[in-house]
Amino acid sequence: MISQPASSHQVWQFLKNVNVHKCKRFRLPKGRKMTFAVSFLFGGISTEYDSSISSLTHIISSYLTLSRAERPFSVKHMYHLSRVDGLVRTIPFHNAFTIAELQAHVSDIIILPGRSLPITFNTIESHNEYIVNLLHGQFGEDGGVQTLAALSGLKGTFGDPDVASLTMNKFAMSSFVSSLLPSDVMKVPKTRLVRPQGVDDAIRFAKSVDGSVVVKPNSLGASLFATRFHDPVASEIDIRNLLREIFKYDNTALLQEFIPGDEYSCGCLISSSDVVLLPVAKIETAQNFFGHEEKHSSGLVIERILDYENDQLLGRLTSITRRIASSIDLYNMARFDFRISNDREIWFLECNYIPGLMKNSIFPKMLRHHGMTVIELISWIASHSRQYERKKHFIEYEISE
Ligand SMILES: Nc1ncnc2c1ncn2[C@@H]1O[C@H](COP(=O)(O)OP(=O)(O)O)[C@@H](O)[C@H]1O
Ligand SMILES: [Mg+2]
Repeated sequence: MISQPASSHQVWQFLKNVNVHKCKRFRLPKGRKMTFAVSFLFGGISTEYDSSISSLTHIISSYLTLSRAERPFSVKHMYHLSRVDGLVRTIPFHNAFTIAELQAHVSDIIILPGRSLPITFNTIESHNEYIVNLLHGQFGEDGGVQTLAALSGLKGTFGDPDVASLTMNKFAMSSFVSSLLPSDVMKVPKTRLVRPQGVDDAIRFAKSVDGSVVVKPNSLGASLFATRFHDPVASEIDIRNLLREIFKYDNTALLQEFIPGDEYSCGCLISSSDVVLLPVAKIETAQNFFGHEEKHSSGLVIERILDYENDQLLGRLTSITRRIASSIDLYNMARFDFRISNDREIWFLECNYIPGLMKNSIFPKMLRHHGMTVIELISWIASHSRQYERKKHFIEYEISE
């Protein structure tokens, strides 16, 4: 999958020839009948459980505000994967369904019998249901549930398990994008992948960096533990302690040079034939660091949605996004995080395989400026994106004795 870096000239020719989509308002055809049904898989066993609940709550409350004639699809079931016992409970949707009922299920006020995920998947497959996967983080976004869905032959938004695990692994994904684009087009921060046995080497690296460093888990989400150390030499003990804490939840951590400058996020929708770019978000925080606290407390971040069409720098950023998104087998949607340094260099941070769909998340804001609601997004995905098809695994050949 990893290709050799093309020359800058070739890459810029490619980027210049890319058609940038205009942000025209998305509209479902008027009077369209509810022709298909959708079910949701949410909750999960990762630290991003709460985000998954909030994503579903936002979707269902948006759905409930629509009259029945306006609803582009019907909701069949909501499958809640419990973080307490790892079992799935099926919440049926009905005409009088309310958010209070959803909350009662999630907070175990209503307790239904649970089933294991493989058994649930077999039942879903036998009913030919279309599943929107809202499991964020570990197991939900890292190829875990995608593999199980592929083995069960499930239809839905799971996508390719290998691509999910590539994008969730920040180190692997950064290595991939740096092999795709030359460094005068896009850079990745100098990074050490740290294992528990490599902490001393990581500390030496941190001390050699000119300026601040960032320590973060390689594959947890929600910016948990992501920390900037202004003075790596004076912070050695704190860095060691943080790494020890990260290793309780993740096998590897990243130690990275801090990139000063501005932060941007680029969202896209991926259809069977094209990548549709959404308006770009500029993320502004007091400390210039979009960490866990900034993400999860209100009022600590301003997300400005920008029109990239008449801005050369943002045009470069969106072209890079398109180039990365079209170079791996992404399905449905994705969101890419970048920094742009004061000398206008673009730095890749990460790819989010299942962007948060909470009311105040960045992705729904991008969608709104594109003229699309989360309900229209689901409808678009179900009708425009490709369905992942597992290749045959067995090729018959003879082994000579
Ligand atoms: N190398 C870096 N330089 C500057 N800021 C960084 C760097 N790495 C992470 N950050 C900050 O930490 C935030 C979270 O890091 P990111 O790599 O996007 O992971 P996640 O969002 O999964 O926690 C970023 O949005 C950014 O503000
Ligand atoms: Mg991020």
